[in-house]
Amino acid sequence: MRLEGQTAIVTGGASGIGAATCRRLGAEGAQVAVCDVNVQGAREVSADLGGHDYEMDVTSPYSVRHAVESVERDIGPVSILVNNAGTDWFGFFKDTDEDLWSRVVDINLMGVMRATHAVLPGMIERGGGRIVNVASEAGRVGSSGSAAYSAAKGGVIAFTKTIAREGGRFNVLCNAVAPGPIDTPLLNRATTELAGGLGEKVVKTMVGSTAVRRMGTPDEVAAAIAFLCSADASYVTGQTLGVSGGLGMI
Ligand code: NAI
Repeated sequence: MRLEGQTAIVTGGASGIGAATCRRLGAEGAQVAVCDVNVQGAREVSADLGGHDYEMDVTSPYSVRHAVESVERDIGPVSILVNNAGTDWFGFFKDTDEDLWSRVVDINLMGVMRATHAVLPGMIERGGGRIVNVASEAGRVGSSGSAAYSAAKGGVIAFTKTIAREGGRFNVLCNAVAPGPIDTPLLNRATTELAGGLGEKVVKTMVGSTAVRRMGTPDEVAAAIAFLCSADASYVTGQTLGVSGGLGMI
């Protein structure tokens, strides 16, 4: 029960890594607000966790602020933010266009900035907080079929370091996790969106690039996130923890 007394927001909490994180933070004693554009999915996840689910679209500043205000009214001041919402539309860079780059960067990078901007002043005022960003090994080593996504995730890693520098003296710690191939609906879509069997090949190569030669599970990422939210990580900030079976040893 390392997180007793904490109020946590998990963006993209309806599915995959986000859903596993909601369950793990809840099991460790936090009150968890499951936030997602997928309202039905968020409701299903929150059903076993006190029923705190909120519609939040990280591409909309209004939606993000409204959800944060609702969480603080219903549960209490937010002490943990897990910026997990993210997605990709797979395609080789030469086949993509500006519209796709904008959408990918808007969700994966700007979304992290929006939610952080909504909670950071309160954390500073109250003397502390934890922010954990779900980046990706793609942001450190690149990933075929995911150029804009890799660029956005690289941005998330740089953003994490800057928030850690700005927040440190207020006891706001900010870290990231960099998952490798994790068995979720997002990764499974890569196999269908990259045509001609190329998607399967890309995923197979990713798995083959891990030292442990297997995909990870959402629970394995959630465990690392819970550590970074806990008192066990009280002297850790600005770091990006690879949860990738040794895909990137950076
Ligand atoms: P997922 O597709 O299972 O879950 C993503 C969740 O984010 C969904 O519930 C979706 O509704 C939500 N979401 C999408 N757009 C949103 C928006 N605009 N506002 C709010 N919520 C939104 O995917 P997964 O794999 O669990 O992804 C979670 C995070 O992990 C993402 O940031 C992803 O980039 C990252 N990641 C995933 C890896 C993998 O192999 N699955 C590898 C590395 C990073």
